[in-house]
Amino acid sequence: MLKDMNIFKVAWYRTTQFVMNKIGMPFIKFPEPKTLKGPAFYVRAAEILAENGYKKPLIVADPILEQIGKMGPLTDQLEQKGLKYSIYYGVEPNPTFNSVLPAIDAVKENGTDSIIAFGGGSAIDVAKIIGACISNDTKDISSLKGLFKVKKKYPCLIAIPTTAGTGSEATVAAVIIDPATRSKYAINDPKLVPDYAILDETLLETLPPKMIAATGMDALTHAVEAYIGNALTRKTKKCALYAVNIIYHNLLGLYQDPHNLAAGKNMIFGSYLAGVAFTRSYVGYVHALAHAIGGKYNVPHGFANAVLLPYVLEAYGKKAHKKLADLAKLIEIVHPESKTDKAAQAFIDYIKMLKFSLGIPAHFDNLIKKEDLDDLVKAALHEANPLYPVPKILGAEELKAIYMEADPSCK
Ligand SMILES: [Fe+2]
Repeated sequence: MLKDMNIFKVAWYRTTQFVMNKIGMPFIKFPEPKTLKGPAFYVRAAEILAENGYKKPLIVADPILEQIGKMGPLTDQLEQKGLKYSIYYGVEPNPTFNSVLPAIDAVKENGTDSIIAFGGGSAIDVAKIIGACISNDTKDISSLKGLFKVKKKYPCLIAIPTTAGTGSEATVAAVIIDPATRSKYAINDPKLVPDYAILDETLLETLPPKMIAATGMDALTHAVEAYIGNALTRKTKKCALYAVNIIYHNLLGLYQDPHNLAAGKNMIFGSYLAGVAFTRSYVGYVHALAHAIGGKYNVPHGFANAVLLPYVLEAYGKKAHKKLADLAKLIEIVHPESKTDKAAQAFIDYIKMLKFSLGIPAHFDNLIKKEDLDDLVKAALHEANPLYPVPKILGAEELKAIYMEADPSCK
């Protein structure tokens, strides 16, 4: 029974989701990037641009890439192709408007005609928003918030992920924080999907294991939330299941040895597939709750998801059991004939064990302040309802209880 959720509200949310998913979405085209996959393929961004007539790319990059020697090979190739590139290193780890705005005027002055997003999800999200602001001739980032506000597509965006987690190279979304309010929100528009995604496992080799763990759990959360939601299509179902299976078989191996290129190759593709799944079939309350604390306390996104994931799955109760049981059977941690509720619990227990093996704690350590709870819950509800087609609609008291379970210090 819904503890604090008005039955009319629930009916309204479900009706909205039905209209969006069954009536609206089938008419919306979700483009997919052209993908290139292979070791040391990231330098091929230069060929793509040259072949398509682009001359002045902006590289939006994580600064660490220069220090670890990954930038040189790319810029060498750009020079060989006669391209006049510029590099922007101003991406914050949890990007705010301040990561985007300084780049816009510079890009206009330089006559930049294309963007290479080179880094983790933050760099790719910032690159998407820089492109959207330029092609829509605006510096008012908040005007792009929500669904379908990007009127014109940026001509060419190449995404080169250097983590296996966010899936941003495949999605319609870019997440950003308004520094004035610390609210974290998404800009969602099919025009944000990159034109190309280069999936190069050698870029994962230098990642710290802690980052492999957090980003890998983000990818798992994308696949699980998309799969257990009510907006699956035949394609997103396939992608979500494939991603869960890949992550099950490879995340721990990559965490234990970042030079394991076979695991890296699988994880970077698994993360991409999870991105394809959730960009059409949404995420759920794990992401809504994680975004709220990410904005407020600057906690890494994948880490926040990882801590919250089992608590949210347990809060869904029986409503999620069938789908969670499917996942347990898929990865063969239970007998195919196992009872649904037992198999569902086995999948949640697997997630808890995986977190432990990846060095991710069961709880946040004095992160959430009791006095912030109401505002955090309000932000999470605002993000999730009515849009996210979650297995069970939860109310404020239930979300507050999840935060308190995840961080007992805020009880
Ligand atoms: Fe995510």
